[in-house]
Amino acid sequence: MCGIIGIVGSASVADRLVDGLRRMEYRGYDSAGLCTLHEGTLVRRRAEGKLANLARVLEADPAPGHVGIAHTRWATHGAPTAANAHPHATGEVAIVHNGIIENFKELRAELAAQGRLFESETDSEVVAHLISAEIERGADPLEAVRDVLPRLRGAFALAIAFRQHPDLLIGARLGSPLVLGYGPEGEEPEMYLGSDALALAPLTQRITYLEEGDWVVVRRDGAQIYDSENNPVTREIRASGASAAAVEKGNYRHFMQKEIYEQPTVVAQTLASYLRRSDNSVALPQMDVDLSQVRRLTIVACGTSFYAGMVAKYWFEQFARVPVDIDVASEFRYREPVLEEGGLALFISQSGETADTLAALRHCKANGQTIAVVVNVPTSTMAREADLLLPTHAGPEIGVASTKAFTCQLAVLAALAAHMAVKKGRLTRDEESLIVRHLLEAPAALNAALDHDEDIAAMAPLIAPARDVLYLGRGQDYPLALEGALKLKEISYIHAEGYAAGEMKHGPIALIDEAVPVVVIAPSGPLFEKTVSNMEEVRARGGQVVLISDAKGLEAAGEGCIATIEMPVVHPLIAPLVYAVPVQLLAYHVALVKGTDVDQPRNLAKSVTVE
Ligand code: F6R
Repeated sequence: MCGIIGIVGSASVADRLVDGLRRMEYRGYDSAGLCTLHEGTLVRRRAEGKLANLARVLEADPAPGHVGIAHTRWATHGAPTAANAHPHATGEVAIVHNGIIENFKELRAELAAQGRLFESETDSEVVAHLISAEIERGADPLEAVRDVLPRLRGAFALAIAFRQHPDLLIGARLGSPLVLGYGPEGEEPEMYLGSDALALAPLTQRITYLEEGDWVVVRRDGAQIYDSENNPVTREIRASGASAAAVEKGNYRHFMQKEIYEQPTVVAQTLASYLRRSDNSVALPQMDVDLSQVRRLTIVACGTSFYAGMVAKYWFEQFARVPVDIDVASEFRYREPVLEEGGLALFISQSGETADTLAALRHCKANGQTIAVVVNVPTSTMAREADLLLPTHAGPEIGVASTKAFTCQLAVLAALAAHMAVKKGRLTRDEESLIVRHLLEAPAALNAALDHDEDIAAMAPLIAPARDVLYLGRGQDYPLALEGALKLKEISYIHAEGYAAGEMKHGPIALIDEAVPVVVIAPSGPLFEKTVSNMEEVRARGGQVVLISDAKGLEAAGEGCIATIEMPVVHPLIAPLVYAVPVQLLAYHVALVKGTDVDQPRNLAKSVTVE
């Protein structure tokens, strides 16, 4: 979603601002803009579409100045036009905003009644006008921002520039992330604001994560942070560890492809921090939470992270015999879930900033739940609000379609389920050791799955012309069917649905004809024959089946399929990790055939920071 960068610099900033925006492209956007301060004027340049358009505008009409703010916008209120692009400016101030100002209609009506004219359809523009109005009434920038922030309802990260103050930016955050960057030591002083550490990676490694409700006065030689009560506060300066190289594709054609190929390594990295090889046991981080006492588990997440939770439900119930409630975050809060005092609520998120998941987390916290978080960004808001933090070690995930974060989430969830089972006395030492040994086989099995990349590429043209594609799976392969369909629709724009294989007869089978490819995910194992029966029902009606299974499964049922994808023979526990690879690669290659924008598919944002 929207990305923000601001520089109070000692040299020209326009190029560096655009460079920062480029590193935030992965978040998803549909217009961009910047504003610099030059000789007492606010110099604003904006463009619809990709950053290349903004670069062209700047080439024709440069924006000089040592201080500036910039923004990539993912449209919420108002179409993605140049007029709706940020920064929004009045004569006195320019602002960039990430989030949603929920009460913008009433604020806009109030400002319009004062004769203020609006040039965009956005919610964000009211912030520029509110601050401007204060300044015109004689307030200084600090007073103006301090008085306006409490009037904003919703979520925001803001960076604000002031025409009459060439050495100043003010930032603020509530519900949307914002980091403060300190220029490298020993160089001309500079200060930065950014939506994330990656945006600032080439500029500095010294950063401070602002806390909820913080606002910050940023000058060239330092910054003062205030908390939501306007008390001056000190926040820790940390080494960001974000490397500019993490945002490079290397020899890969797309970030998605790179991230699919990173899975054996990052899953191994993740497992290494949860499993002890010396005695084949699960070793979770030190925690105050007594897992032996958990009587019910509530899992909440969105999208691909939700599907990881669906797979984990099987593991928690099977190993630990703990009943699991699972819901998508956008529905969870509004159904008045029954949360028993002392329950454990588990949130799964790549970004750790997804607005719905975060809101659900806070709802659970307010209702007496212990909060466990499986998250890939260790500095994210969810990570900071967790009682039990379980990081995945996938490294930055840049492709909009989640891949390596999913398999790393599965690795952590399997370890957590096994650990809970041990604590509850449901697993013997031998059983625990066996589970650990199976999990440790995952990286090699992922490598073996990747060996079939070329076969999958070769069959992608069979799927690419389809208007609809169905994915079927049973048991823990059912969430994978959902994940396969999600991957395909988000990057190839082909309509796809995942179904529990046994549900076909209850309606979806009416969709089957020769034009609808049906991808069946069926590793050999206890549910194989039942899934194959459902597959035969599809084939009997002219359905074009692509079967993903191991050699044994393909031998038993591969005949008559339009294509087959062979996976290594693996233990059922790690099958969801391994079978994630072919569904990811299939979506990837179909998208290549269709020529879509794989890493930045239309309408999508990487980190969904609005509800
Ligand atoms: C799909 C995808 C999304 C995310 C969802 C949750 O490929 O990436 O469905 O999984 O937006 O995001 P996080 O995991 O950051 O909370």
